Amino acid sequence: MKIGNVEIEKTAALAPMAGVADKTFRELCKDFGAALTVSEMVSAKGVSMGDKKSGELMYISEKEHPSSIQIFGNEPATMAEAALCAAKMKPDIIDINMGCPAPKIIKGGAGSKLMQNPELAGRIIKAVSSAVDIPVTVKIRTGWDSDSLNAIEMAVIAENNGAAAITVHGRTKEQMYAPPVNIEIIKKVKESVSIPVIGNGDIDDAFSAAKMYETTGCDLVMVGRGALGRPWVFQQISAYMKNEVILPEPPVSQRMLIMLRHIENICNDRGAKIGMREARKHALWYTKGIRGSAEYRRQMSTLESIEQLQEIAFKITKENE
Ligand SMILES: Cc1cc2nc3c(=O)[nH]c(=O)nc-3n(C[C@H](O)[C@H](O)[C@H](O)COP(=O)(O)O)c2cc1C
Repeated sequence: MKIGNVEIEKTAALAPMAGVADKTFRELCKDFGAALTVSEMVSAKGVSMGDKKSGELMYISEKEHPSSIQIFGNEPATMAEAALCAAKMKPDIIDINMGCPAPKIIKGGAGSKLMQNPELAGRIIKAVSSAVDIPVTVKIRTGWDSDSLNAIEMAVIAENNGAAAITVHGRTKEQMYAPPVNIEIIKKVKESVSIPVIGNGDIDDAFSAAKMYETTGCDLVMVGRGALGRPWVFQQISAYMKNEVILPEPPVSQRMLIMLRHIENICNDRGAKIGMREARKHALWYTKGIRGSAEYRRQMSTLESIEQLQEIAFKITKENE
């Protein structure tokens, strides 16, 4: 499939996830075949004020392409300025966040709050897509709540204002992350616009990816939480989409090796101190559901060193041989 002139494999994209999908995780998912990666959301205001942390969040590596930088904000001019800044990092795509339900973001009039103001949303999309010469995409939810399902209206506005694709997370803002995912609306969005539509929500294996493709006719699927502690999910979806092959979950020994590689890379990127703090949540995801791991998982919430994690990984592997 293509977003603007950017060629993307029709397998699965990694969803933007603030505090989780950093450069290290995105690179790892790419190694497993993620078709597209998206940065953590970056504040347009932060970028325009030269905030260091916002600048760092926009860094993407050579390995990630095709990749997208996601920005959020509620002022067309500031969003355009941030998009121009982001474009200097050489992403293939700029994505606009119109789906985030976090109170802090909504209070600022950004994220899913923009679904309550389609007119402003349209002006933001127009300002951003006029500012940069790479494709601009928009990520929305199905609506604010079940009484205001306006994903179709938002998608049409996005297309009319220059968006090159639209991602639909099949839940309302009110739902946050609770089931069910509204597949029907994603299908209707696809039928209502001629730009590509990316389907998102509860995809965590080859079957759920195939179901999203089949039932909605979407052009690409996007995986968020299903990749946490399971970056190989992209290999599984890819193998199914290309060859109809079902790959099993990797054995525990391999999962532990992937976890160690991931966490070593975090430490290399961010230093051991911050790295090990970041590592704790990932280690918990990697060991979720593994037999005999309960006591080790308790130890993981206070992880201090990579040696400690290596020892835990070794013991978990032994117990599952
Ligand atoms: C920890 C976390 C952080 C997220 N951060 C972002 C973000 O920065 N931008 C965004 O558009 N969506 C964000 N999302 C939403 C995801 O991109 C995705 O739409 C949502 O999780 C549904 O997909 P899933 O069911 O595959 O997880 C976040 C979700 C999670 C769980």
